[in-house]
Amino acid sequence: MFTGLLDCSILKRAQDKNLVEIVVHNLRDYTTNKHRRVDDYPFGGEAGMVMQIEPIDNAISALKEQRVYDEVIYTSPDGEVFDQRIANQMSSYNNIIILCGHYKGIDYRVREHLITREISIGDYVLTGGELAAAVMADAIVRLLPGAIGDEQSALSDSFQDNLLAPPVYTRPAEYKGWRVPDILLSGHQAKVDEWRLQQAMERTERLRPDLLEKKD
Ligand code: ADE
Repeated sequence: MFTGLLDCSILKRAQDKNLVEIVVHNLRDYTTNKHRRVDDYPFGGEAGMVMQIEPIDNAISALKEQRVYDEVIYTSPDGEVFDQRIANQMSSYNNIIILCGHYKGIDYRVREHLITREISIGDYVLTGGELAAAVMADAIVRLLPGAIGDEQSALSDSFQDNLLAPPVYTRPAEYKGWRVPDILLSGHQAKVDEWRLQQAMERTERLRPDLLEKKD
């Protein structure tokens, strides 16, 4: 799953340019039993299996011997909901570990003793944390200087100011009678900028009024 997600497009380019190093670890490599088991039956007789603490502790300890980590994150629907503010914050970190949650659940002591922050990517339940980790990686890595072509464009993103992006258009100026707004063809940059801001405000009020409450 990670090979497909992390090895293409902007994430691949950022890694090729050494802006970021993303390493995927398999918890089975940190087991000590001969079957490389990472889960066991739950105490208290619940249904299903639970990820064991030992391989996770071994993995995190081995990584911490090599680097200092700003945060050890666990992906879970219980967590703080990931947003642009958190992506911005994490893009300034040197190293993070993301432990992917699993539908089976993990021994709660991992969360009590090893995890520094729990992150959800939204109010729905995924089968595992891998997609959540990839979503976070994408949102964080694209903010690293040099990761996307136009230095300005990460800053002018939708959400960067808690505003939705204004509409964009390209040639032809008219297609099947559907016209591009005249103002964009006018050549008056100040008026164009004003129009863009107005559109951003109007779209945000209409589609995501909750964002305006977060705005400074
Ligand atoms: N694991 C399962 N569901 C999740 C979610 N919504 N966010 C992060 N991790 C998850």
